[in-house]
Amino acid sequence: MKLKKMAAMVVASMMISATSFAAPFGGEDDVSYAADIWASMSAAGLAGKDATMSTPYTGMHPHGAILDTIDTRLKVGDNDDILIIKRNYGGEGVSKTAVANDPDKYLKAVTVMYKRNGFDADIKDWFWIKYAPDGSVLKNPKGVSLAGRVGKGMAKGCVACHMGAPGGDMVFNHDRYAK
Ligand code: HEC
Repeated sequence: MKLKKMAAMVVASMMISATSFAAPFGGEDDVSYAADIWASMSAAGLAGKDATMSTPYTGMHPHGAILDTIDTRLKVGDNDDILIIKRNYGGEGVSKTAVANDPDKYLKAVTVMYKRNGFDADIKDWFWIKYAPDGSVLKNPKGVSLAGRVGKGMAKGCVACHMGAPGGDMVFNHDRYAK
């Protein structure tokens, strides 16, 4: 009996390390850096209630029915670089006007790309996060937090899809950051 229990524990721990190995993102450091970014965004008036917003526009999958995008810079610790925020709105009665009038009511998620110098040259140093409207980090169906190299080397996820953005800078909307 005892041996069986031990064997089960070994298998369980092997499974845990296998999952953390499989996902190159969502670790403790990633989640804590995501919290630092959110705190800096809030201090700069870019997150939370009455956050600065741009004109809402009709979006496309997977980002949401109505979107607003902000392209700016943010200082997080001693890193001072590009921040792109894409807010995703949806729900009953959503429209551009409805969102402009009451953004908090329709806000579903906040997706962020933040240039973190020295983070990972393969992905142009972009740090990826999907936040809930309250600033907590959302998880994928496997329970892995969506922060860091989300989808790197995988078939799905932020990096997997944004790799195809024109200009090779991983940004879809423009090529201003392409080198
Ligand atoms: C299946 C493809 C796909 C996936 C997955 C995806 N995106 Fe995007 N993303 C897009 C497209 C297409 C645009 C530009 C069109 C638009 O404005 O909706 C975009 C735009 C953005 C922008 C604005 C900058 C830009 O590239 O134009 C940010 C920020 C962003 N995505 C973050 C994320 C994050 C963070 C994730 C993962 C949690 C993610 N995206 C997952 C396709 C994707």
